[in-house]
Amino acid sequence: MGWLDQEGKLLVYGEIVKKPNSNRLNFCRIIVRPNQRDKGYGKKFCKSLIEISQKSGNYRSIRLNVLSNNKPAIYCYSSLGFKIIGTLPNARRIDNKSHDLMIMTLNFPLPKE
Ligand SMILES: CC(C)(COP(=O)(O)OP(=O)(O)OC[C@H]1O[C@@H](n2cnc3c(N)ncnc32)[C@H](O)[C@@H]1OP(=O)(O)O)[C@@H](O)C(=O)NCCC(=O)NCCS
Repeated sequence: MGWLDQEGKLLVYGEIVKKPNSNRLNFCRIIVRPNQRDKGYGKKFCKSLIEISQKSGNYRSIRLNVLSNNKPAIYCYSSLGFKIIGTLPNARRIDNKSHDLMIMTLNFPLPKE
């Protein structure tokens, strides 16, 4: 799913992935166009993905993986209620260097705001 700007250019993109035989969804590849970051689009977009996920029924939680050094993403997801439930040490190799992944989850029903 994606949001376009007024010129029709991609502003935000993300995927909701269904796990077979599971009541859990995964969010993947969430990305805001680089020159439009830290303006609230990521949070608004994730909020709408959460609403879509909730409305589709049958699902109890959303899970995602994020690099442990990705502060903007961890802030964004935490501000929406995602909690860190674990770490996968050295799970990603980028430029020949190992990086830890954090596993974050959001359980339904959501707490009242
Ligand atoms: C991670 C990402 C999607 C967040 O989207 P964004 O539009 O930049 O974030 P928002 O402006 O919606 O900010 C959401 C929250 O994070 C905080 N935040 C955003 N960028 C931040 C930064 N660089 N440092 C600290 N906090 C930051 C905001 O203050 C906001 O907090 P609040 O709700 O308390 O006000 C975006 O930065 C991005 O595309 N990053 C590159 C791709 C990526 O890493 N994707 C995640 C893969 S798991």
